Amino acid sequence: MDADAGSGEPGGGRDAGAGVAAEVFADGGHPEWYRDAVVYSLDVKTFRDGDGDGWGDFRGLIDRLDYLEELGVDCLWIRPFYPSPLRDNGYDVADYRDVDDRLGSLDDFDALVDELDARGMRLIVDLVLNHTSTDHEWFRRAREDPESKYHDYYLWTSHVDRAYNTSNIFPEFEDGVWSYDEVADKHYFHQFYHHQPDLNVANPDVQEELFSVAEFWLERGVDGFRIDAAHPMILPKGHDAHRMDDPQWIFRELKRRCRAANDEAVLLAEADDEPDRLDFYFADGDGFDALFNFVGNSHVTYGVGVGNTWPLYRMFEQIPDAEPDGHVWWANFLRNHDEWNLLKLPHEALEHAREEFRQGGDGRDSWIFGRGHRLRLADLYDGDHDRIAMAHSLLLSLPGTPIVNSGDEIGMHADLDLPERQAVRTPMRWDDSEPNAGFSTADPRDLVIPVDGTGWPGVFQADAASQRGEPGSLFERVADAVDARKRCPEIARGDCSIVHVDPDDVWAHRFDHDGRVLFAVHNLASESREVVAGFDVDPADAERVLGDADYRVADGGVAVSLDGCGYLWLRGERRTR
Ligand code: NOJ
Repeated sequence: MDADAGSGEPGGGRDAGAGVAAEVFADGGHPEWYRDAVVYSLDVKTFRDGDGDGWGDFRGLIDRLDYLEELGVDCLWIRPFYPSPLRDNGYDVADYRDVDDRLGSLDDFDALVDELDARGMRLIVDLVLNHTSTDHEWFRRAREDPESKYHDYYLWTSHVDRAYNTSNIFPEFEDGVWSYDEVADKHYFHQFYHHQPDLNVANPDVQEELFSVAEFWLERGVDGFRIDAAHPMILPKGHDAHRMDDPQWIFRELKRRCRAANDEAVLLAEADDEPDRLDFYFADGDGFDALFNFVGNSHVTYGVGVGNTWPLYRMFEQIPDAEPDGHVWWANFLRNHDEWNLLKLPHEALEHAREEFRQGGDGRDSWIFGRGHRLRLADLYDGDHDRIAMAHSLLLSLPGTPIVNSGDEIGMHADLDLPERQAVRTPMRWDDSEPNAGFSTADPRDLVIPVDGTGWPGVFQADAASQRGEPGSLFERVADAVDARKRCPEIARGDCSIVHVDPDDVWAHRFDHDGRVLFAVHNLASESREVVAGFDVDPADAERVLGDADYRVADGGVAVSLDGCGYLWLRGERRTR
């Protein structure tokens, strides 16, 4: 058998997926629920340890669903929980159809699904289709037997000097995209860590395996998937830079198979591609239901951090508009569990952000991979809860589905003493008890990742217990913003427009829907600001939705007095006169 990669029929050319959205959702092409949802992203192994072994688990998570209900979120996205050697936090999957036994069992997973169902909450799970762990059975068989069908599940070469080359996604840790495997006596292709061999996704057998993994979890009751690394999936792979003839096909077919299993299943993709390529992933409604808004993430988080609105204007210029009646939809976020990736900022702003937000010292540095900071939101905003609350209000008011990153709702800090991105993945701090902040009763030496007790210099590390039920706390303010979002379906359904106001450190936008107006204004400055904007609602009809700023509605306009980092959402019937 030819050792070089890319063998196997490409999936391109088939049209089985065409028109799926139109077939299943004649009334607009997508299920509604994910557009109204507020998503909370968490890692089971660091959320809550239910059995005292030092690892967060499904039982612990079930035990803390009350907390999430109190916050008001109604959809969980859980990061990979599959059996894994955890050399990339579980994004190195060793078995797609099971639960890592340190986190629980399939029965525990089912129990979570039942509990969420009972509470009217949804579940999205991470699906890693671009690569497996080297510990996966497929890779073991692939390397041991070049004649086995599994060999062509991966991409190999015996001529690495002549093979296609590109840069590795983790440049500080990997020299390139080829690593030598002694068992196979060949090199294999990997865009991420060397222990994450890329799958040959052009191989129909691999495609079938991946589709059936998705069906397996849908049958177990999940509501959708976060598709990891959707962009690397379709980049050139292997010895001869093989590309599928029709790379969209695999996304369309995945959607078709998922919708056939569950007609409300959604696919949310991590496709951090160039802005002018993003449309591709929606495939005219037959592709992904939403894409993570990486352009928005760098621009909004930076704009709020430096107190200026130009990055928000730029974000709206760069990406296609979210379409209430169409297929373009964003999953917005302020931070995630990776580095804060700044590559989508213009060069000067990236350089500025690299130095402005940099933290560390004593051999520690927050800058990583030449593109971002391994810091949490609370570090970027100097532990300022007013700014973090305002940022969440803004996030929840943007067109798209908001994703709250676990721990940010209480202002948890990063721990730069930990290696790599572990800095931003420390266990949830439930209270201020020693030694594990309520995360686990285990010996601290046995914890999956150490609990961080220090926090940003001069600022105490946050915990949930001291904020729950405490008026004005960050947790309560984020919960209020989540509640406001749930009361404003016009954000998912209305037409969004920017409202130009002075000064340029105040951002305002509005939604028009069904004869009603929702107006949201956010002061990115630390000092107070007076703002006047058009607001075509009668004074008696104006309803405060969120924020405590003083305002006066008169003569088709509104005057708002905002404290530093203040915000206000107002709405009412649009005047017809
Ligand atoms: C994106 C995930 O968010 C990240 O944590 C992971 O390292 C890569 N994909 C590779 O799976």
